[in-house]
Amino acid sequence: MPVIVLVGAQWGDEGKGKATDLLGDRLDYVVKFNGGNNAGHTVVIDGEKYALHLLPSGILSPNVVPVIGNGVVVDLNVLFQEIDGLEARGIDTSRLRVSSNAHVIASYNRSLDKVSERYLGARRIGTTGRGIGPTYADKMNRVGIRVQDLFDESILRQKVTAALLFKNQVLSKIYNRSAVKAEEVVQELLSYVDRLRPYVADTALELSQAIDNGKVVLCEAGQATLLDVDHGTYPFVTSSNATSGGACTGSGIPPTRIDRVVAVLKAFTSRVGEGPFPTELHDKWGDYLREVGHEYGTTTGRPRRIGWLDLVIGRYAQRINGVTDFALTKLDNYDGMDEIPVCVAYEVNGVRHDEMPINQTDFHHATPIFETLPGWKQDISGCRKFADLPREAQDFVEFVEARIGARISIVGVGPGREAVIERHSVLGDA
Ligand code: GDP
Ligand code: IMO
Ligand code: MG
Repeated sequence: MPVIVLVGAQWGDEGKGKATDLLGDRLDYVVKFNGGNNAGHTVVIDGEKYALHLLPSGILSPNVVPVIGNGVVVDLNVLFQEIDGLEARGIDTSRLRVSSNAHVIASYNRSLDKVSERYLGARRIGTTGRGIGPTYADKMNRVGIRVQDLFDESILRQKVTAALLFKNQVLSKIYNRSAVKAEEVVQELLSYVDRLRPYVADTALELSQAIDNGKVVLCEAGQATLLDVDHGTYPFVTSSNATSGGACTGSGIPPTRIDRVVAVLKAFTSRVGEGPFPTELHDKWGDYLREVGHEYGTTTGRPRRIGWLDLVIGRYAQRINGVTDFALTKLDNYDGMDEIPVCVAYEVNGVRHDEMPINQTDFHHATPIFETLPGWKQDISGCRKFADLPREAQDFVEFVEARIGARISIVGVGPGREAVIERHSVLGDA
């Protein structure tokens, strides 16, 4: 029985939430392994829209056990708001498991995220302001607060006090903000303890036992390949490993137990926040795709930057993640277009690059080399089989598939759960 890792191939918002939801009936566990409430996944079921941030998308499938892994950073206020919001809509959240090793986003890290962005001015990252970067920095600096620390009041007080020794200096002396009182932070965190207790578990152990017992586990990434802190467009990245390797460290599932890696690739490209973007559109086509694709951030509401599909990035995502299957989403957003440019390589200072340039400066200056494919004049949202697609749409899928190093197993033709073509089973024989 397989363990599957699902990642984003581009800069996020490829439709990972929908892809997880699509597989939901066939899964036993869905594990979020990185990031926190910087993520925003929109899932549409029977016309009802659900926006998930911190909870894994698997929470919407009644038989799935959703897991927040050790690699996640947890804003407890957001966690309970999201749980309450779903419960109010009749979704049972009682199966949720939260790793005792996951780190907690303290209020001072939300403040630091916002003030440091303001301080950077034109050099800002364009973060979501949710405290993600400072919380991961604390983890690496070994001054973070873990979920388990909330259950030992004296340890919690010691850790918060120790973290604030330095942070209060930074807040007051560099950013000219008032210092934070350790006791207020401690009391806020303690206020969640009773509600949190039933969810907390040794999730790595539970997942290991589940895999031994033949359960189907899907590890769902937040963010995406080019937002990965190691493999992305640093420093315009998030502060965690969003690529498939992060699924191991962020869940405790070892690499030897992973069977398949699915990457979600949007049929065009979007990016939220700052940083290089070779195929970015500044013309009517960018505006057109933003509107037909409703490309506004699920988390911050910011208009997403839009560009043509970039197959250099697709190939890179395949290689870095070891992708076995792609899900190509939002093909329907091209309906009615005469022709569709696709970037197949870059030119930098007169030199052709078929792979990601080694230096980010070159990536900044890359000019896309496009091939233009014919569009189709038909609404494809009702297609459920590959053969139902117009010839040009089939050719488009096959053109992309031939250049990204792995098969395209799923094609998305609309936002709803049902609006999908499954060409191959990504779960194998499960
Ligand atoms: P995620 O962060 O990767 O889960 O993606 P988001 O939810 O932030 O953004 C993807 C958006 O595209 C959501 O609004 C989805 O409902 C929508 N979506 C996903 N797949 C498709 C598709 O195949 N066609 C269309 N039209 N919309 C899709
Ligand atoms: P999903 O899971 C798109 C971007 C932010 C910013 C950078 C760093 O919905 O695909 P952070 O707050 O993480 O420190 O911000 O990363 N970013 C995302 N962009 N989709 C996301 O998540 C993102 N999560 C973070 O806009 O550029
Ligand atoms: Mg999103």
